[in-house]
Amino acid sequence: MNISILSIFPGVFTDFLAVSMIGKAVEDGILTVNLINIRDYAHDKHKTTDDYPYGGGPGMIMKPEPLYEAIQDVRRDREIPVIYFTPQGRLLHQSIINAYSESTELILLCGHYKEIDQRIRDLLITDEISIGDYVLSGGELPAMIFVDAVTRLLPGVLNDLESALSDSHQTGLLGCPHYTRPPEFMGIKVPDVLLSGNHEKIASWRRQKALEITRKNRPDLLKDE
Ligand code: ADE
Repeated sequence: MNISILSIFPGVFTDFLAVSMIGKAVEDGILTVNLINIRDYAHDKHKTTDDYPYGGGPGMIMKPEPLYEAIQDVRRDREIPVIYFTPQGRLLHQSIINAYSESTELILLCGHYKEIDQRIRDLLITDEISIGDYVLSGGELPAMIFVDAVTRLLPGVLNDLESALSDSHQTGLLGCPHYTRPPEFMGIKVPDVLLSGNHEKIASWRRQKALEITRKNRPDLLKDE
């Protein structure tokens, strides 16, 4: 998968793309990331990318020209999804990640200041995504969250795809508790069923625990059950 990320702070992605699962995906050529500095498309010598809003009010607006040129430079008339991260977008969910993990190419736009000029949305943006009902200073963290969640679904990234498919939210429920060695820690024993070797019983215990945790922490997910 090839992802182009447009930002006025592309440097914040460097470590993120170099370590752990993402670093390995990049090293293995499964993920290629093209970092684009929107300032490189600014027209004046101060590299201005924002301006005052028409109609007045607080906050600055990202100017349309640098955004338009930066996106078009990547798209070159091809039909590539252009995702803009904004608190006004649809709420990110695992199902959205699953769908985008099938793409070969994506463009991610990280906003800053109050908003981007509406005409960029009208002309070029194909999807708007929010990572939650709170406001961040920019779209870089949402873009990292998106890239992380998509990358772990790409073939060859996780050793165990089955593990990804049993994650919280893939099954419609939150995940169950997990244990590793030692069998007893600070007086707390690993539940006997997990040591029993009985796969049917283990699966049923995990589902029961997943239901309990979902009921406690996210009862909204059980509304349709
Ligand atoms: N930019 C600022 N806040 C955001 C949010 N909650 N989700 C996505 N992009 C954002």
